[in-house]
Amino acid sequence: MQKHTGICIIVSILLGMNVVNGGQQNTLNLMPVPEEIVLKDGIFRLDESFALKIDGPADSRLYQAATGMLRRLAGRTGYFLPQDYITAESNPEHPQIIIKTSRIGEVKLFEDESYSLTITDKQITLIAETDIGVLRGFETFLQLLSIDKDGYYFPNCIINDKPRFPWRGLMIDASRHFMPVDVIKRNLDGMAAVKMNVFHWHLADDQGFRVECKTWPKLHDLGSDGFYYTQNQIKDIIAYAADRGIRVVPEFDVPAHATSWLAAYPELASAPGPYTIERGWGIKDPTMNPVNEFTYEFLDKFFAEMAVLFPDDYMHIGGDENNGKQWNANPEIQQFMKENDIPDNHMLQAYFNKQILKSLTKYNKKMIGWDEIFQPGLPTNIVIHSWRGQKSLIESAQKGYMGILSNGYYIDLIQSAEYHYLNDPIPEDTPLSAEEQKRILGGEATSWGELVSYETVDSRIWPRTAAIAERFWSPRSVKNVDDMYRRLDVTSFHLEELGLLHMNNYDMMLRRLTNNHNISPLKTFVDVVEPVKIYTRHRQGKIYTSYSPYTRVVDAARPESMTARHFADLVEKYIADPKNPDAAELILQLSVWLENHRQLVEIIKVSPVLKEIESMSADLEALADLGLEAAKALAKHKTLKKKALKASDVLFENAQKPRGQVELMIVPSIRKLVAAAGN
Ligand code: ACM
Repeated sequence: MQKHTGICIIVSILLGMNVVNGGQQNTLNLMPVPEEIVLKDGIFRLDESFALKIDGPADSRLYQAATGMLRRLAGRTGYFLPQDYITAESNPEHPQIIIKTSRIGEVKLFEDESYSLTITDKQITLIAETDIGVLRGFETFLQLLSIDKDGYYFPNCIINDKPRFPWRGLMIDASRHFMPVDVIKRNLDGMAAVKMNVFHWHLADDQGFRVECKTWPKLHDLGSDGFYYTQNQIKDIIAYAADRGIRVVPEFDVPAHATSWLAAYPELASAPGPYTIERGWGIKDPTMNPVNEFTYEFLDKFFAEMAVLFPDDYMHIGGDENNGKQWNANPEIQQFMKENDIPDNHMLQAYFNKQILKSLTKYNKKMIGWDEIFQPGLPTNIVIHSWRGQKSLIESAQKGYMGILSNGYYIDLIQSAEYHYLNDPIPEDTPLSAEEQKRILGGEATSWGELVSYETVDSRIWPRTAAIAERFWSPRSVKNVDDMYRRLDVTSFHLEELGLLHMNNYDMMLRRLTNNHNISPLKTFVDVVEPVKIYTRHRQGKIYTSYSPYTRVVDAARPESMTARHFADLVEKYIADPKNPDAAELILQLSVWLENHRQLVEIIKVSPVLKEIESMSADLEALADLGLEAAKALAKHKTLKKKALKASDVLFENAQKPRGQVELMIVPSIRKLVAAAGN
């Protein structure tokens, strides 16, 4: 037994660092970090008598969630827990966890998601205003499960938690590449695990219209290649999301990004058709006609149907990237603008939005759109979705509009978790007043779908989105990057338990790339590369379309190489002290890379698809060789020879060039090592 010293440590806001609890290092793996956590001495020891009782109003959502929580506990521990499906009749004699709620929550903006979790030696209580708060608490509880030599336990603590922002979203683009129902469902599970509460479903774009529409059936018939969600599937997904306390906000992007609509109904267009579904990427010309009454009749009927299908209060109308080319070229549109004193396309789109808003209002929907919809004359109950920068978010908040931020959370740009994590919807130096800050509702990570398939989408979303989820939930002061990465690794592993394939599909893709040979050398290589960043992939090599292969090394490669990140850390330590305890790991890693190319070349011989990375694999060998030489020199307090330094410049120059649209991520670290050994 631990001695109770009465010392409590407030972890929260200091965060995440290794907080000392009763002389032991705490190993909390919470993500997102709760608003307040007080660690106490002692533990609750989990055993096979563990049982749960719900006290307060509940329905199938809470019963399912409680059952699911117990199953995940059982799954991790192998314990045969006594309760099966939890219902109102579940009334164990000695419940070790008591759940108290006051009401059944509504899946809508601003719903109460707070909870308090108290763990003591003998008893656990989870109290929340709503069952949705209980769901959030269950996730925290599961993350607290810890292991010691005697088994499984929960650390004694008191957690009081609530979200910083009410809108914590993930957008999935199902238009550019269709994402089957099971992909959506497992990502909803991932969202719930990190307490996200808005699934923004990008359902229509130039490359595909993905919803069964009964009013205008050619939309899905002619606009989708047969890849669309039936209305029953949509209802099923909305119910699945609601069971996890997640809202579903559909996006129907108008008036641009509309080629798939026009392939079905060319009479909506601003230029004569016919149109076919777009296969390429980028900003396209086809745009709805804003001066044709038919456009508004069509959209009114369309939104009438969609307003019933999608129960959320908000409807996302897109509104982005209208290049105006078709509008400029259409004499009727130009005439209309003259007659109505509409000075430019921006104001013409404002006119268009006002007509759309009439329909949405009629069907009890509020409007949200990308920041292009921020135009004078629209009521302040619309939400501005800022993607081009923080500027529009700030301006709209100052003018009385609510907003959410996605700029800085574009996970399709293949940036680091750190980059996204440190991007704050309301940074410390915000010019907004306290009143204006309340209008910033939160943000959304955006998984644009051009370069992802159903096989790779999980690895693009996870685990980085968990860091973004923390940004939206936890206090602003929670921003220790090293600790975030430590917890992200654990979170990533836990997400796999929910069926997400971000880890599993890596091996599967490498197996396909090696044509079912030993994947080990390829893995060693792909572990240290990353896809090229931002949108450079569209500008290098082949032109991608919706039907291109997304199965190459660049697709298997993770957005962020944790091996390279760890190696950078080893290098820093080695330069500071070549005798540091991790020095051997650095030498071992370099030795593995030194030997790898020889093995990978044999695989490349039987798998031509890998030819494109052969020279980069050779560079990895050369870098390892050079790195070992530099490490040896540093250990012996010698300097590298001038000749070696000169040769290294050429190697670095070549090694940092992308090939096969991947970049070798250890080049800067080897450079540092060599520079240190050159001095
Ligand atoms: C966008 O990325 N065009 C909203």
